[in-house]
Parts: sequence; structure tokens; C-alpha cells
Amino acid sequence: METESPPPHVTGAPSDRFAPRATGAMARMFDCVSGHYRLLNRILTLGQDRAWRLALWAAVPEHAHVVLDLCTGDGSSLPGLRRPGRLVIGLDASLAMLELAAEADWRGGWGPRLVCGDAFHLPFAAGSLDAVTIAFGIRNLRPQDAALAELARVLRPGGTLAVLEATGPRRGALAPLHRFYLRRIVPVLGRLSRDPSAYRYLAESILEFGPGDSFTSAAEQHGFHWRGARRFMLGATRLWVASAPLPAGEIPAGAAGSVQAARLGESPRGEMPIAAGRPALEQRASSAVQGLLSLALSVALGAALARMLNPNIHIPLDRPRRALLLALVVGGMVVFGARGVMFLLRTLRPTPRI
Ligand SMILES: C[S@@+](CC[C@H](N)C(=O)[O-])C[C@H]1O[C@@H](n2cnc3c(N)ncnc32)[C@H](O)[C@@H]1O
Repeated sequence: METESPPPHVTGAPSDRFAPRATGAMARMFDCVSGHYRLLNRILTLGQDRAWRLALWAAVPEHAHVVLDLCTGDGSSLPGLRRPGRLVIGLDASLAMLELAAEADWRGGWGPRLVCGDAFHLPFAAGSLDAVTIAFGIRNLRPQDAALAELARVLRPGGTLAVLEATGPRRGALAPLHRFYLRRIVPVLGRLSRDPSAYRYLAESILEFGPGDSFTSAAEQHGFHWRGARRFMLGATRLWVASAPLPAGEIPAGAAGSVQAARLGESPRGEMPIAAGRPALEQRASSAVQGLLSLALSVALGAALARMLNPNIHIPLDRPRRALLLALVVGGMVVFGARGVMFLLRTLRPTPRI
């Protein structure tokens, strides 16, 4: 395991990463962390990112012919975008991350085209893309206005923008736990990486992005029309789906006043309907696995709690630390228990169709 810091010229000063249009600093940082990126991603998302990506893929219309996965990184969001006859492009500023994407098994055809480029200067003609997906990338694009203007330029009018992003805490009972996770746990896990400062950046950039309200209103100002939103892991990750701006006077499909589908699926309030078929089946299977894993975690935390409360077992912690640990174990047990039940109920729900 490598824990030593890389020389400063490899990563650049961490403060550069928050500068406007910091594409070079981003590329250097991700070049540096690419070695452990996948492993840490799985740990930090508690292995759930696969389920979130299924929802991202389902948001892209089947008929989308040219699809860009922006900030594609190691290409984790590319496999489910492939379709016969569809051109899928993965674009990223970091060459080392793109090398990971290129190593994937693209047998079966319709492999993506990988492009090293800058999100602020996309090498595409105006209106040439049917859909753009961005997973855990938008938060890194500052200023957001410039990134949104470039997205509005390359998407065809009415095209699809699907954004998956890790979000900061919204006010509420779970906010302190969420903040504790970002401020204390993420940087500790980041020590597994070649550049631990990259994981401090991760936590800080999520806190800066917040629950995503400023992003959604900035997108509206650029003419994007929101079609749906979903939250995962109690709001720690969100998915937004929008239509690209239409020429003045046209009404986006699905908006009040436009033609509506006679029978929309019964998706719960605030949730997007997901495409039926294979992705929906995978989503159901994934929900079952997530549910069982969460319940197992809750039971494990219950067992830990029983040991903590056993007077014959000495835990070498002072009172405040013991109280904090107790609160975390009880909180985790309740949250994961509720989450397990929620996911298992979701597997029983009929699949909404679009
Ligand atoms: C957190 S990673 C996400 C990777 C992948 N989409 C995923 O879901 O795991 C963010 C990616 O955005 C890329 N990136 C950051 N700023 C960029 C820019 N201005 N242009 C292109 N890519 C950029 C980084 O190189 C990095 O690979």
C-alpha cells in the first residue's frame, strides 16, 4: 500500500483545484489517484455506485444516437450506455483515468470512443449530441455557468442531460452524521491513495456543491428544463435529468401545456420513471442485494452494540468518545435497518414504464 505523498509538481498546489477552469490541476490530481480510484470509489459509495449508474443509464432515451459521458474518468458509466448503432463518447481531462477506461472489456462491439479533452471546450459541433451523462464530474467544473453554457451548446435542442453527483448535507437530523462522514471519514480513507489531499478536496468540493440547489437553478437559467430527480443514500447522492434548451416559443415535452402520455407510470412523487426491460430487472436485483446488505450491516452493528453494553467487556475509550461511538453505532443500526427495509420493499413495487 502506497501512502507517501507525491512530489508537488505531480499534483500541483491543492488550492489550484478550486480555481476557475482548473482543467490542468484536475487532470494532474486524477492522474495521480487513478491507481486506487476504483477501490476507493467502491468503499466510499459503500458499493452502491453500480445501482446509481443503472438509474443514470435508464435516463438516456433508447433512441439517443450520439451520447457523451463527460468527465468519464475510468469509464465506469460507459458500459450501460452502449447500444447497437449508438456512438458513445467518453471524454476526460486525465489520460491516466482514460487508460483505465480503455482497459475495460469492450468485446461485443459498439465500444466507446475515448477522448482526452476539456469540458469547457468540447470538441463537438453545436447541437451535435443527443444526450450527455456526467457522473461525479459536474462538482469539479468551475465556474458552473461556463460548463452549463458549453453543455447547452453541444446538446441538440430537447436533448437529455443526466447528472449524477455526490451532494452535501441538507438541513435535518442526519446532516451532522453526513458532515462527520465527509469531514472525518473520507479524508482518513483517502490515506490509502497516492495523494491523500485529493480526498480532502473530494470532501471539501462536496460541501461546497451542497445539496445541489445552486446547480439546478443555474441550469434553469441556461434554459434546461428539469424532467426528474432522484436521491440515493438518504440524499448523499442525487440524479437530475433535464432537457436541453429549445428554441424560443417551443414547449418541452412533458411540460404543462404540451402533449402528455396518456398513461404515465406510477412512479412515486419526486422520482423519475425508469425504463422497463433489462435495466429495470437489474435495478430490482440490485435493490434486493442492497436491501440484504443493509440489513446484514444493521445486524452486525446490533451485535457490536450488544458487546459495547456488556459490562464484562472493557472498551479503552474515555466517556465522550464512548458516547460518540455509541451514537454512531445506534444511528448506523437504525439508518441501515430502515434502508434495508426500504430497498426490499422497492423490489416488490411494480416497475413504472415510460
Ligand atoms: C470523480 S471523477 C468521476 C469519474 C467517473 N465519471 C465516475 O463516475 O467514477 C471526475 C473526473 O472528472 C474529470 N475532470 C475534471 N475536470 C475536468 C474538465 N475540466 N474537463 C474534463 N474532465 C474533467 C477528472 O479528470 C476525473 O476523471
